[in-house]
Amino acid sequence: MIPRERPDGDARVQDGSPILEVRDLVARYGQITALKGISLRVDEGQIVALIGANGAGKSTTLRVISGLLQPATGDVLIQGRTIRRATPRAIVRMGVVHCPEGRRIFTRLTVLENLRLGHYTRGNRVLLVEQNANMALRLADRAYVLETGRIALEGSGRDLLANDAVRKSYLGEI
Ligand SMILES: Nc1ncnc2c1ncn2[C@@H]1O[C@H](COP(=O)(O)OP(=O)(O)O)[C@@H](O)[C@H]1O
Ligand SMILES: [Mg+2]
Repeated sequence: MIPRERPDGDARVQDGSPILEVRDLVARYGQITALKGISLRVDEGQIVALIGANGAGKSTTLRVISGLLQPATGDVLIQGRTIRRATPRAIVRMGVVHCPEGRRIFTRLTVLENLRLGHYTRGNRVLLVEQNANMALRLADRAYVLETGRIALEGSGRDLLANDAVRKSYLGEI
């Protein structure tokens, strides 16, 4: 999750409130509870990674944030405004762009090039990109580890990259 820079300058200006906040989110697909109450925040100018094994709920989290899936309970706030009842189109207008896995538009570019390119599109503030965990942690100021619908671990990207359990479970290392 990458907050976009302001077109007029410093992306790291803080007003104390997160640009994106997820509160106690519960999401279901029929009988399956994919998110069991997750909370996370992205401050302006921060790159935040969400990692986890297959089926942990990463895509579901992004689907709820971008309005493609209605949560059972909980809320998503974009610059303090709820997205409840907002359509995906309205959420894009609120400044959130989601690039789902396997559907990158600029497939020939590197992740970094994609992100930089994003900076040239005006009016949007948060970019949700599904990429590999290693790259995500290398870029991230902060990261959350999702385990079967719950946040299991939170830390700086650097800390999680150095964490043996994380390396073993999520970065494909033995
Ligand atoms: N369209 C769907 N219908 C039913 N279950 C789904 C659907 N999409 C995802 N799930 C289930 O929700 C859980 C979280 O999946 P997902 O968010 O895709 O995980 P991740 O992106 O971390 O691999 C998994 O148990 C998965 O099987
Ligand atoms: Mg996924």
